[in-house]
Amino acid sequence: MELRVNGRLYQIELDPETPLLWVLRERLRLTGTKFGCLKALCGSCTVLVDGEPVRSCVTPVASVVGKSIITVEGIPRDHPVKRAWKEVGVPQCGYCQSGQVIQAYALLRKNPKPTREEIVRSMNGNLCRCGTYPRIIRAIMRASEMMG
Ligand code: FES
Ligand code: FES
Repeated sequence: MELRVNGRLYQIELDPETPLLWVLRERLRLTGTKFGCLKALCGSCTVLVDGEPVRSCVTPVASVVGKSIITVEGIPRDHPVKRAWKEVGVPQCGYCQSGQVIQAYALLRKNPKPTREEIVRSMNGNLCRCGTYPRIIRAIMRASEMMG
């Protein structure tokens, strides 16, 4: 199979039913994407597929062949989302944060000036056991400001 991840092409041989999450972490060593629940419930494994956030833990790799996959490593360091995350100091333990960053990135690509309610609605499926939700909202609003 040929996979396009963060703009780079990878040729890999594997079972087409393998979850994308395992391929990213174990084969491509893109370990920013985290394994949380494996049931599409927590959002820690979120990546973008053709611009849409998906739960990579329940996405068979065969279904993303020919599509563009973006992981947290694929968002530039100087992107407003990453800068705002750092400025606000969002993470606590950090485990959920790559999924949060990807979800926020997807939101701001579609809606660069989201309201607080739109942010809450969009981020609703991404759980954080450390309760960093207020800082996540602040960081998205800050990133939105930085994007002008
Ligand atoms: S690990 Fe995929 S949603 Fe929790
Ligand atoms: S920062 Fe710890 S789970 Fe979110």
